[in-house]
Amino acid sequence: MSNKPIGVFDSGYGGLTILREIVDTLPEYDYLYLGDNARAPYGNRSFETVYEFTLECIQWFFSQGCDLVILACNTASAKALRTIQQNDLPLINTEKRVLGVIRPTSEVIGQYSHTGHVGVMGTVGTVQSGSYLLEIAKFFPELKVTQEACPEWVDLVERNAFDTPEADALVKKHIDHLLTADAGIDTILLACTHYPLLLPLISRHIPDNMKVISQGTIVAASLKEYLQRHPEMDARCGKSGNIKFVTTGSTAEFDSHASIFFGKNVVSEGLKLNK
Ligand code: DGL
Repeated sequence: MSNKPIGVFDSGYGGLTILREIVDTLPEYDYLYLGDNARAPYGNRSFETVYEFTLECIQWFFSQGCDLVILACNTASAKALRTIQQNDLPLINTEKRVLGVIRPTSEVIGQYSHTGHVGVMGTVGTVQSGSYLLEIAKFFPELKVTQEACPEWVDLVERNAFDTPEADALVKKHIDHLLTADAGIDTILLACTHYPLLLPLISRHIPDNMKVISQGTIVAASLKEYLQRHPEMDARCGKSGNIKFVTTGSTAEFDSHASIFFGKNVVSEGLKLNK
């Protein structure tokens, strides 16, 4: 029997909001989570740096036996995934797969909007990459998409400062900016895996009928479908229901924060990377 865990990667804690939904949907599989907390946030880093850090982490997952890795980070998906899929995987191992979160989200986001106007909120890196504009246009060419970069939001979440007047003001600022740019928006996509933690604040500053979409359930449904379409990959995945958490940062800090994102107690192991 195969025992390869599915790798789930994020720059820090945000990917745990995705892993949580994946585990709810596919509880029988084994998972290996890596948060690169020592080098987070990725959102304001250059294309080259995000690519270099992400590739290093992917190679670590491969060294741990993972054949399938999910980049549960929009910034890494936007800035590194395509190069890794097209240039690196053919050289490293053609049997391994790395999947991101932008495509599965883009495939469905248009279904949520009645007005045909959607707002995408993400890190500077995700917004500047233009990945959502490109991907959504493939599936919903008529959809009007307005992006808003929220450079301070990840830091608020990483600092556990979501219930502060500072957080409230910063959330209001970006929501107002987005809705002023396009008053027709009826659906907001939280295109950063950290942002679902800000939902209570976001809800205070949007009209009652506005839909706010987090990616967890979308990515989980897409992974389920992927495994059904790829029985050869499914057969390689371990199914003992084990989850292992690893961080490049402080394990004590990770364990005290991670449960907020994952919804359950987390005990992590430390990892030292070279760069
Ligand atoms: N959680 C990551 C994302 O979805 C970004 C966090 C960061 O800036 O590192 O984009």
